[in-house]
Amino acid sequence: MHMVCSMHLAFSATQGGTSQNNKGNSKPQFKPLQGLAQNFYESACPKAHDIIKSEVIKVINQNPSEAAGLLRIMFHDCFVQGCDASILLTKPMVSEQIATPNNASLRASTIRIIDQIKDQVEASCPGVVSCADTIALSTTLALELVGGPSIPMLVGRRDSQTAASNQTVIANIPAPQLSISGLKQNFQSHGLDSKDLVALSGGHTFGQAHCRVVDLQITPTVSTDLNAAFAANLSRICLPVNNSAKGGITVHLDFITKDVFDNNYYKNVLNKVAIFHSDAALLDAADTKQLVQLYAKDQSKFFEQFKISMIKLSQISILTGQNGVIRKKCTVPN
Ligand code: HEM
Repeated sequence: MHMVCSMHLAFSATQGGTSQNNKGNSKPQFKPLQGLAQNFYESACPKAHDIIKSEVIKVINQNPSEAAGLLRIMFHDCFVQGCDASILLTKPMVSEQIATPNNASLRASTIRIIDQIKDQVEASCPGVVSCADTIALSTTLALELVGGPSIPMLVGRRDSQTAASNQTVIANIPAPQLSISGLKQNFQSHGLDSKDLVALSGGHTFGQAHCRVVDLQITPTVSTDLNAAFAANLSRICLPVNNSAKGGITVHLDFITKDVFDNNYYKNVLNKVAIFHSDAALLDAADTKQLVQLYAKDQSKFFEQFKISMIKLSQISILTGQNGVIRKKCTVPN
């Protein structure tokens, strides 16, 4: 894996896109977003990237599936009031962590890991590096360590001092039962298009789902989204689990390359062995179906778009400059 290099590019979250050059290849095209840079901490905390990198390497060596935990936390942070690390706040406010889409679903182990990484950074440069950047850098480094592309993540985000309400989290995090039009609408409301929807759904190429959510697809009847043998397997694992234990039992989102960030997700969608309705729904519109087919065949095309979409995700409603604060402890507002 490559260390994040120093580069002066900045990208716009909402105006990113692709253009066709005269060879027909699509080229990323971005506008600078003020306040972010890859070398933002170069003078105030030159070791920030190295500290985060060495912590993430330790974590992933011990448990590669934490990369999935990190990616989901970043997604759930950025989709709710922006990438401001509000998801890590636990007191004195009601935490986003217990909002319905997050409760007993985000990994507690991953949340602890982010806090630990931030503590290490604080020990070297107190009050300089934000929790929001700690999430963004840790996630991109972890993704690369488990096979994903190298993403030129920009930094300079600051943290919020408020958390969103349960209702706001529910309104912003897409539900697994959504149709393709519901998914497109949800992503559009965050400044993301169909290409981002398909590429970022590739996040389901690793990690896990709790039986509580799997049940939506297998009971009372088995969804036509699923291949029969696959559904029988899920039923064998999840149906005997009684309600009080549902929170603890999980299945792999990608049972073939479970901890690897690759394009296998798209093959799973085509083979009807991706778990959620929202995965199968990508085949219900011509534009998204075409991209699923393309990414299933060509991992480099997936990675190319995934990088662009991750940069866009990472810049949703961010706080920069004089806005927001640098939280020393990610769990508390100041
Ligand atoms: C498109 C709409 C999406 C829906 C409806 C959706 C829904 C879900 C659900 C229901 C789970 C399982 C939760 C549980 O059982 O506890 C899950 C897991 C996961 N999702 Fe999504 N998701 C979506 C998009 C995304 C995006 C955009 C990303 C990241 C870019 C992502 C990354 C993940 C990861 C990595 C996991 C596994 C987490 C872990 O193992 O801890 N998802 N998703």
